[in-house]
Amino acid sequence: MRRRRLYEGKGKVLFEGPEPGTVVQYFKDDATAFNGEKTGTITGKGVLNNRISEFLLSRLNDVGIPTHFIRRLNMREQLVREVEIVPVEVVVRNVAAGSFAKRFGVEDGTPLPRAIVEWYYKSDALNDPLVTEEHITSFGWATPQDLDEMMQVALRVNDFLSGLFIGCGLRLVDFKLEFGRLWEDEDMRLVLADEISPDSCRLWDVESGERMDKDRFRKDLGGVEEAYQEVARRLGVLPEA
Ligand code: C5P
Repeated sequence: MRRRRLYEGKGKVLFEGPEPGTVVQYFKDDATAFNGEKTGTITGKGVLNNRISEFLLSRLNDVGIPTHFIRRLNMREQLVREVEIVPVEVVVRNVAAGSFAKRFGVEDGTPLPRAIVEWYYKSDALNDPLVTEEHITSFGWATPQDLDEMMQVALRVNDFLSGLFIGCGLRLVDFKLEFGRLWEDEDMRLVLADEISPDSCRLWDVESGERMDKDRFRKDLGGVEEAYQEVARRLGVLPEA
């Protein structure tokens, strides 16, 4: 059955779901970096991210962190709840890397004394600028209560996922979360949305320090497909060939 296309993003397409209040999330192989300046394809990425994100969001659901995830439908699609995306990307960092290392002139790999949570305004046109809570509440992107909740959930997700990845020999250096508003009658609750995958996390092999995430694509390190496969393999979700 052909479903109505609701939205096409850089890595995913959203289609109308089979029941009201549901959406089908389709994972593409397309990869972009530096806000679309660099584009490419990572063969099989969509299939792997579908599995990896299914696994991680399910484990978070298991420990009582609400997410939009309902179930995986097939190799590239999953059924999720329809939410209103909060236009704020929440980044949690355990180790300095990427834009943080650059912004503050610290060396990549410098451990941070405690997890740092940052907010970015989700806007391709503005290049997702770093913003403060004042900006977020003044523009009405989220309320102070939403921010408290997002901060608490982000830190719980960090604790849980850091432990889960360490068990697979991977250090969770940093990651990005998105939240959605889920309306049930008149009540609104925030749930984790989008995906959690090597596209949205930095994962470094504990032993070798090797980058096992999208930085391999961003920095032309090669072995991109293999790194995504290795993450899926270590999590025990590598699809049968
Ligand atoms: O580039 P930066 O260092 O700010 O990224 C921090 C983390 O957030 C990285 O794990 C990156 O993959 C993720 N991120 C993302 N989507 C963005 C920006 C960052 O998934 N738009």
